[in-house]
Amino acid sequence: MSSQIIPVEPFDYVVFGGTGDLAERKLLPALYHRQLDGQLTDPTRIIGASRSVLSHEEYRKFATDALKEHLKKGEYDEAQVKIFTDRLFYVPVDAKSDNGWDQLKALLDEGKERVRAFYLAVAPGIFGDISEKIRDHKLITKTTRIVVEKPIGRDLASALELNDTIGKVFKEEQIFRIDHYLGKETVQNLMALRFANTLYEPLWNSSYIDHIQITVAESVGLESRAGYYDKAGALRDMVQNHILQLLCLVAMEVPPSMNAEAVRDEKLKVLRALKPINPGNVEKMTVRGQYKAGASAGGAVKGYLEELEGGVSNTETFVAIKAEINNWRWAGVPFYIRTGKRMAGRMSEIVITFKPIPHSIFDEAAGRIAANQLIIRLQPDEGVKQSLMIKDPGPGGMRLRNVSLDMTFAEAFNARSADAYERLLLDVVRNNQTLFMRRDEVEAAWRWVDPILKSWEAVNQQVQAYTAGTWGPSQAIALIERDGRTWHEVI
Ligand code: BG6
Repeated sequence: MSSQIIPVEPFDYVVFGGTGDLAERKLLPALYHRQLDGQLTDPTRIIGASRSVLSHEEYRKFATDALKEHLKKGEYDEAQVKIFTDRLFYVPVDAKSDNGWDQLKALLDEGKERVRAFYLAVAPGIFGDISEKIRDHKLITKTTRIVVEKPIGRDLASALELNDTIGKVFKEEQIFRIDHYLGKETVQNLMALRFANTLYEPLWNSSYIDHIQITVAESVGLESRAGYYDKAGALRDMVQNHILQLLCLVAMEVPPSMNAEAVRDEKLKVLRALKPINPGNVEKMTVRGQYKAGASAGGAVKGYLEELEGGVSNTETFVAIKAEINNWRWAGVPFYIRTGKRMAGRMSEIVITFKPIPHSIFDEAAGRIAANQLIIRLQPDEGVKQSLMIKDPGPGGMRLRNVSLDMTFAEAFNARSADAYERLLLDVVRNNQTLFMRRDEVEAAWRWVDPILKSWEAVNQQVQAYTAGTWGPSQAIALIERDGRTWHEVI
């Protein structure tokens, strides 16, 4: 079964940071896949821009190497790569001076009528400079959009400032704040599951749901991002954006439609209803961890501080939080969230645990009756599982068994799972903002995260060590077990 591919109108995508890590690992491979599926129409162009001085040909070579390295086996097709790289152009530009901007304008003016997107895959410190250059050099047309990557700020004040800076040049409807988790297949499936079925919605509340867990575990460590990561930490890097977005999609009311404003209005209400964490409760509600040397993917790995090369750091590479939502639907239902680097595996999932049955009619010999769980697996094997109690087949007494209705998407549809960027990059061209964050959402997320950061400082909350290759510090286990619950830990 294959999904329907609808070609998009021709566009010019200008990627600032065109020779950077994101372009190399994600953006160019994603656009190539859209080419393979026949979605790019002529005369679509992708224009790399950065300070490096490269010719168009050298950029094509850079992209070819990137594709060779980052595509999976069998995806690299010589003829298609040629067609794809023929769409690539390159202009050296300097965000801080006028160098290169006239050249970029001349190139773009060849396609004035096309959708024009500027992707800022650069450090947020130069978002403002680039936006102003785009305006000053008159590069904005009626169909111009700008895409910005996280981090959007490192606290509420800097997020407000950044949004103001971009907002001086672009209107809100032209700004696409990307959170690649929203482009993941299963994340959208969560909306399908909730809103295209009658089954779950009547149960989706505190009367029937005991608690919810959101885990985003990574096996990788610092990689080569020490400079950024040590100043950020897991709360800023993963919770403020990706995990809160997941939480919103799980918890939001049913929007009247899939219209971008309708969906984002509902997500915003969830963010605003999050119970504040303050110095009085921060130690009870949050756990900070930092990995020490251990083993990951079978091999010995260094601890965080060793990776920092002798640095001293209280930056968390793991965080667990008991979050609560102050509204009718969710009062009393904890959302346990956790994320970390160098954990036992790469695994992300949302687990909805329903309440136990109120009264059992079965005798003890039937066995324990487990509460139903709905498990939405984001990665690695995307899919949905619903656990149910059934009778153990066969004659004899009544014995009960917990089984899973298992739907692994790759098997069910025999389809390649598209990378999140593939959808999101083209949603910009299609002018669909449903899966992008609106300004007020980003700010509301910071309004909840900021006091956590400040409380950590106020109470001087230290990171707890955990061995690389485990599920985080023991304090994170205690966080949930204190409430008589346990983390769902099937890899
Ligand atoms: C990024 C974070 O936003 O998401 C990284 O900055 C993290 O630290 C990455 O590794 C995880 O994304 P994914 O899609 O691999 O789960």
